[in-house]
Amino acid sequence: MREFVYFSQSARTSGNFDVKDLMKAGRMDIAIHSFIQGVFLSHGFRKDMKFHFVFYGMPDPPKHIEIQIKDELEISKKDVGNLIRKILYKYKEGKKTEALPGCFIEKKSFLKLIDEMIDEGKEIFLLDKRGEDIRKVKIPEDCVFILGDHEGLPKKELKRLKEAANMVSVGNKMYFASQTVAVVNNELDYRGI
Ligand SMILES: C[S@@+](CC[C@H](N)C(=O)[O-])C[C@H]1O[C@@H](n2cnc3c(N)ncnc32)[C@H](O)[C@@H]1O
Repeated sequence: MREFVYFSQSARTSGNFDVKDLMKAGRMDIAIHSFIQGVFLSHGFRKDMKFHFVFYGMPDPPKHIEIQIKDELEISKKDVGNLIRKILYKYKEGKKTEALPGCFIEKKSFLKLIDEMIDEGKEIFLLDKRGEDIRKVKIPEDCVFILGDHEGLPKKELKRLKEAANMVSVGNKMYFASQTVAVVNNELDYRGI
């Protein structure tokens, strides 16, 4: 199964943000655009993939949100901000909670999440302009693509990832985070992964 992990150092870790001013919520707008490119199709959804958010913003970092689209989930492209708010509000200390169908929330650090994915046998790909051309890279069925927000990934996380992940590039330009998700989805679709 393909998975994406979107990391943000600044995205809010509580549901009390204004969906009309997503930039003020630690650039939640970038998180939402990336998610839309990850899971939405013109006439439906990608149900055979998972999208993860790891938020390190205030007031209660870190928060890990995992979403796999289920038929029972009410979701609209116009209202992803409220979906994230509802999931964050359902956080319960000490456990992974299914906030809405297919949507889970827990307190977990970015590196812990990545280590668990490696232990589960998933291959990790770090999206980075300086990486190897994605068109030349072998990609297995169980693959995880990591991307950062407007600030990219912090030094500590980057250092660990460079040891554990393959750096892949989707081109020689610096793209929006959301654009890289669209390119990766397209590449995997072409390959039938
Ligand atoms: C707007 S960029 C971040 C820019 C940030 N100043 C930096 O230097 O990382 C957002 C994310 O998109 C991904 N990205 C952007 N351009 C890329 C490219 N050409 N190939 C692969 N990933 C890319 C990276 O994961 C990056 O963290």
